[in-house]
Amino acid sequence: MTKTIIQTENMCFTYPDGTDALHKINIEIKEGERVAIVGSNGAGKSTLFAHFNGINQPTSGLIKIDGKPAVYEKEKLMQIRQKVGIVFQNPDDQLFAPTVIEDVAFGPMNLGLSDDEVDERVEEALKMVGMSGLEKRAPHHLSGGQKKRVAIAGILAMRPEIMVLDEPTTGLDPKGVDQVMEILYRLNREDMSIIIASHDVEMVTQFADKIFVLHDGQIIGQGTPEEIFNDYETLKKAHLKPPKSAELLHLLKSNGVKCEVKLTVEEAYHEILHAIGVESFHKVLHLVKSQLHHRLLHELGEENYHKMLHVLEEEQRNNIPKT
Ligand SMILES: Nc1ncnc2c1ncn2[C@@H]1O[C@H](COP(=O)(O)OP(=O)(O)OP(=O)(O)O)[C@@H](O)[C@H]1O
Ligand SMILES: [Mg+2]
Repeated sequence: MTKTIIQTENMCFTYPDGTDALHKINIEIKEGERVAIVGSNGAGKSTLFAHFNGINQPTSGLIKIDGKPAVYEKEKLMQIRQKVGIVFQNPDDQLFAPTVIEDVAFGPMNLGLSDDEVDERVEEALKMVGMSGLEKRAPHHLSGGQKKRVAIAGILAMRPEIMVLDEPTTGLDPKGVDQVMEILYRLNREDMSIIIASHDVEMVTQFADKIFVLHDGQIIGQGTPEEIFNDYETLKKAHLKPPKSAELLHLLKSNGVKCEVKLTVEEAYHEILHAIGVESFHKVLHLVKSQLHHRLLHELGEENYHKMLHVLEEEQRNNIPKT
């Protein structure tokens, strides 16, 4: 049976100023899972994450890490932090050394590893995040996206069993997002559990196999991406939106088209094609261009809109038999 690596029981947390940030959180995360916590600003995601490596201590209730209730003594905390690596939402909270190389080396050096081992880990981690060559730069002189990558490298170099990333893709360009996602997939294939918090529903949909919806300090939904993004009531309550392709299919479905709501563009494309048949596909393309043009352009941005049109037209040329 798969091991449970993080489990909370009625965990509550109140900040010293009296802000009730978490209320009776009951979650279970298993080894090797890819988990996403979604929720709007102020929902409690970062507060929850700070419990996963003992920065925050529950005001009441319990958190178990690797089957054991967290103990908040210096030595035990060190053990927890070796197991659970957290990449903070804001890299400025994480980066402090005068150079990139010293920053990334700090964690592994504190593990008491040999110099050679530290060097090897630092080099590997910087390569993974595409930051080789910037070793001597000062972290506070880097761009936002570069800082994020260095912060991720610092945790990677610790080789934790569980990686927790708070908004890992915010501020990254599309290539940076792909690189980070690729790293996370690679680590996950090696059985590392990955927990992320994000507002990026498109990314969450592709990445997570389990989602928790956090709202106002409470878990109000949990399930697979399909379950969560088909539960419009919960999404609305949490002030979240489903991915654009799901919204489009939902609209078609509620207007009488026989289809299921799919989450990725690729799946949605096939679902639409299947549901409406080849002939109508031409009509939809016409509809997209003539009537939904402004809305989609606004929602997707010019580049994505043209990409989408291009894909649809290519598919039309290549795959759809002439009727
Ligand atoms: N140090 C603090 N002292 C008091 N209240 C805090 C503190 N940090 C956060 N809070 C409050 O706790 C609640 C949860 O905040 P948290 O930062 O966990 O939200 P979040 O889901 O991470 O939001 P975001 O999407 O903006 O990052 C909010 O009401 C916030 O104002
Ligand atoms: Mg946050």
